[in-house]
Amino acid sequence: MRCPYSLSPSFAFPLLFILVSFLSSFTSSATQNSLFRGYSLSVDDESDFLTSPDKSFTAGFYEVGSNAFCFSIWFTNAVNRTVVWMANRDKPVNGHRSAISLRKDGILVLTDIDGSKVWSTNDTETDGHKTELLNSGNLVLRDPQDRILWESFDSPTDTLLPLQPFTKIKKLVSAKGEGMYSSGYYSFFFDNDNVLRLMYDGPEISSVYWPNPDSTVFENGRTNYNSSRTAILDDLGGFSSSDRMRFSAGDMGFGIWRRLTMDYDGNLRLYSLNESNGLWNISWEALQQQCNVHGLCGRNGICVYTPEPKCSCPPGFEMSDLQDWNQGCKSKFDNQNCDPNQKVRFLELPQVDFYGFDLDYLQEKSFEACRDHCSNNCSCEAFGYRLTGEATCFLKSALFNGYKSPRFPGSTYLKLPETLETSEDFFEGIDITCGSSKPQNLSSLKYIMQGAKTKWVYLYSFASVIGAIEILFISLGWWFIFRRNGIPKSVEDGYQAISSQFRKFTYKELRKATNNFKEELGRGGSGIVYKGNLSDDRVVAVKKLGDIIQGEEEFWAEVSTFGRINHMNLVRMWGFCSEKIHRLLVYEYVENGSLDKHLFSNHDSDEHTLLGWKERFKIALGTARGLAYLHHECLEWIIHCDVKPENILLERNFEAKIADFGLAKLSQRGRSGSEFSRIRGTRGYMAPEWALNLPITAKVDVYSYGVVLLEIVKGIRLSSWVLVDGDEEEEAMLTRFMREVKRKIQNGDDLWVEDAMDPRLKGQFNKNQAATMIEIGISCLEEDRSQRPSMDAVVEALQGCEDEPNTHI
Ligand SMILES: *[C@@H]1O[C@H](CO)[C@@H](O)[C@H](O)[C@H]1NC(C)=O
Ligand SMILES: *[C@@H]1O[C@H](CO)[C@@H](O)[C@H](O)[C@H]1NC(C)=O
Ligand SMILES: *[C@@H]1O[C@H](CO)[C@@H](O)[C@H](O)[C@H]1NC(C)=O
Ligand SMILES: *[C@@H]1O[C@H](CO)[C@@H](O)[C@H](O)[C@H]1NC(C)=O
Ligand SMILES: *[C@@H]1O[C@H](CO)[C@@H](O)[C@H](O)[C@H]1NC(C)=O
Ligand SMILES: *[C@@H]1O[C@H](CO)[C@@H](O)[C@H](O)[C@H]1NC(C)=O
Ligand SMILES: *[C@@H]1O[C@H](CO)[C@@H](O)[C@H](O)[C@H]1NC(C)=O
Repeated sequence: MRCPYSLSPSFAFPLLFILVSFLSSFTSSATQNSLFRGYSLSVDDESDFLTSPDKSFTAGFYEVGSNAFCFSIWFTNAVNRTVVWMANRDKPVNGHRSAISLRKDGILVLTDIDGSKVWSTNDTETDGHKTELLNSGNLVLRDPQDRILWESFDSPTDTLLPLQPFTKIKKLVSAKGEGMYSSGYYSFFFDNDNVLRLMYDGPEISSVYWPNPDSTVFENGRTNYNSSRTAILDDLGGFSSSDRMRFSAGDMGFGIWRRLTMDYDGNLRLYSLNESNGLWNISWEALQQQCNVHGLCGRNGICVYTPEPKCSCPPGFEMSDLQDWNQGCKSKFDNQNCDPNQKVRFLELPQVDFYGFDLDYLQEKSFEACRDHCSNNCSCEAFGYRLTGEATCFLKSALFNGYKSPRFPGSTYLKLPETLETSEDFFEGIDITCGSSKPQNLSSLKYIMQGAKTKWVYLYSFASVIGAIEILFISLGWWFIFRRNGIPKSVEDGYQAISSQFRKFTYKELRKATNNFKEELGRGGSGIVYKGNLSDDRVVAVKKLGDIIQGEEEFWAEVSTFGRINHMNLVRMWGFCSEKIHRLLVYEYVENGSLDKHLFSNHDSDEHTLLGWKERFKIALGTARGLAYLHHECLEWIIHCDVKPENILLERNFEAKIADFGLAKLSQRGRSGSEFSRIRGTRGYMAPEWALNLPITAKVDVYSYGVVLLEIVKGIRLSSWVLVDGDEEEEAMLTRFMREVKRKIQNGDDLWVEDAMDPRLKGQFNKNQAATMIEIGISCLEEDRSQRPSMDAVVEALQGCEDEPNTHI
C-alpha cells in the first residue's frame, strides 16, 4: 500500500521545480544588471554581481588582498579582470559578511563584516529606486522616474572610460604599486591654469612633470585661455580637451574597448582590449621616456634605463627602505653638520640630471668657478654642469627626480667627503617595483613588521563554510539587528534580551562600581583592569582601554559582537561604556587570577598554590577549547593575536578562561591609516609570520598556544628573551628546550618526557598526557604555519587522553 502522504513523481516534480525556481530567483535576482531597493549583493556569494546588458562590465566584490575585498567594476572579458572603478579602494572590507545594499532609504551603502558603513552614495535619504550597470561601464542610481541620482562616472579612481566626461572636479589617481589598488602618488587633473597635467604628490615633494615643465603652455601645444576644463575620450579612440590637448589611439576605430589609466608608475596610458585573447595593448602613452616621471626613485635616487627603467642609488648612498623606492636613498656618510673645513670631492655622474631644487643658477661660469661655489656653500649637495654652446651651472640644494639619459648633454657632480671610498658601478639599477619580493630575514626579529606596509591583510580568517548557527541567526532575522551601524534605540531593548544582560554602562556607573578606579587587578598593552561591584552585586573586572580612538557607534558595533560570545572557556563580557573619550569594557570577574601567577611565581613567598598535573592538563584543554571556539565555531571567527599566560584566567576550580579576545580588532580599527601595520602580541609568543610579509591567519594563535603549552609542562617562562653581548638573543630557552627534546626523542631516550617536566611536580603526572602535550606544543611551533595543527585538531588530540590517572614514578 502506498503511503498516503507520498507524492507521485508527476506531482512532485513541478512542485520541486517551483520551489527551486523560487529559490534561485530569490538568490540570483542580483546576477543581472539592476539591484532594486531593499536588495543587496553579498561578498560571501561569488555569483552575486551585476553585469551590464551586453556583459562587457561586471560590478561586484573584487579581492584585493588576503580576505580583503573592494566593491568594484571590471572588464568581464579582460584577463585577470581589469578593474576600472572602486567604491572603497583605500578601505577594503572583510571577505565575509560584507555587502553592498540599496537600502530602504534609497542610499547605496557598502558595509563591512560588523555592519559598519565603509562607503555610501549619499548621507541623506534619497529617492533611489534601483542601481543599474550600464553598457558604458557606468554604475547609476536611479529614482522611480529613471532620473540619475548618482553615477560612478562622477568619481573615477584611476581610469577614464570612453564617453565618460572628464571635468574640473575629477581627477585620476594612480594605484600605489603594481598589483595594488589603494591610492598612490600620481594624478591626472586640470590644473588651476586650465591645463591638463600629471603630477607626483609624494610624502616629501610635489612636482609636475607633464607636459614638459621646461616649456611654456603654448610651446607644449596647449592653451590656458579656455576655462571650461572639459575633456572626453570618444568611442573612436580620440581624446580632446579644452586646453587643446589631443591625441588618438594607434588603432583608431569603432568597436574596440579602451581605457585611459593613470598607471602606478606615473605614466598615463590609453589601452585597447584585444577581445580574442583578453589582453590589453598600449595604444598611446603620455611619456615616451619613463624616467621623466618625477618622484619615481625618491630622494637621491636615479632612474636609469637598463634598458627597462629601474631605480638606483648613486655611489656613497644606499636604499633607505628596501621595500619602498618612495623613500629614496640615504647617504652612507654623515652630512648633517656641514663643516667648512672638511675637505670635499666631487664625483661625476655623466648624463645624470636631477630636476628642480636649484639653489642657484649661474651662467657663463667656468667649471672650476661652479665647483668652488658648490664646495663653499653648505646647502649645496651637488651641481649640474653642461656645455651646450654656453656653460650653465646649477647648484642643487636637494636631489630629487634624478634620471640618467643618453640625451642629457651634461653631468651632475655629487659632493662627497674626500675620504669616502666609492665604487663606480652604480648603474646596475634595481627594479622600480622591487622590494615586495624580498622577504625579511626571519632570524632577526628586529625588522619586525617593517615590511607590512603595502599589501592588504584583513585581520580575520574564516572558515569557508558558514556555520549552521549563523544560518539560523540570519533566517531568524537577528543579523539584521546587529549589522546596522549604531543600533537604533528602538531595537536596543530587543537586542539586550538576545544578548542576555550585555548592556551599555554609563561612565558614572562604572566609576561608582570601581570606587573611582581604586583596585587595580592588572595592566597590559590594551589598558588597565580594575575590580568593581555592580549595583546588582555582581563582581566585575572593568578594563579601561588606552588607545582606542574609534567613534562611539563603531565601537558599539564592534563590541556588541563580543558580547554575544558565550563559551565556558572565554571570559564573558557583560557590557561596555563609550562616552566622549572614555572606552571601557566590563567583564565577569575571574577569581583565581591569571595563569602566569600560578605557573611562574615563587611559591614559597606568595599565596599562589603550585598547580598540580590535573589542573595543568585541564587548563591546557580548556584554553584549546576556547581558541577552537573563536577560530572555528563562533559567529565572528576571531583571531586572538595575543595568547599568553597573562591572558588565560583561572576560575576557582581551575577552569581556564581566555581574556582579551577581540581586542586586536578594536585597536587595529582605531588606527587612521588603512594599512595593517601595527603588531599586536607579545614577544616570545609571536609567530614568525608577523616578521614576514605574510597574511595573518588563525595559525598565529596556534603558535602562541604551543609556547604556552610547553610552559605549562615545564613550569618556567620559556619565552623569555635574554641578552647576549648586548644583543637580544631570541627565544633562547624555548629553542634550547625544543632542541633537547627533539634530540632525546631521536636518540630513543626513554626518559625524554620525565626530563622535560617541571621538577616541582616531583614525578606526579600522567606520562601519556604529558607526552601528548609536548608533542602538540612542538608541532604548534612549526615555522611553516601550514604544518601547524588547527585548534580543533589540538582539542581532539588532548581529549583523546583526557580521563587518565596520574602515573607515579
Ligand atoms: C594574470 O594573473 C596571473 C596570476 O596572478 C599572472 O601570473 C598572469 O601573468 C596575469 N596575466 C596577465 C595578462 O596579467
Ligand atoms: C544627496 O541626495 C540629495 C537629494 O537627492 C541631493 O540633493 C544631494 O546633492 C546628494 N548629496 C550627495 C553628496 O550626493
Ligand atoms: C573651450 O573648450 C570647449 C571644449 O573643448 C569647446 O567646446 C569650446 O568651444 C572652447 N571655447 C573656446 C572659447 O574656445
Ligand atoms: C599594439 O598597438 C601598437 C600601436 O597601435 C601596434 O603598433 C602594435 O602592433 C600593437 N600590438 C599588438 C600585439 O597588437
Ligand atoms: C589579438 O590577439 C590575437 C591572438 O594573440 C592576434 O592574432 C591578433 O592579431 C590580435 N588583434 C589585434 C587587433 O591586435
Ligand atoms: C648658499 O647659496 C645661496 C644661494 O646662492 C645663498 O643664499 C646662501 O647664503 C649661501 N650660503 C652660504 C653659507 O654661503
Ligand atoms: C638569515 O640570517 C642568518 C644569520 O644572520 C643566516 O644564517 C641565514 O642564512 C639567513 N636566512 C636567509 C633566508 O637569508
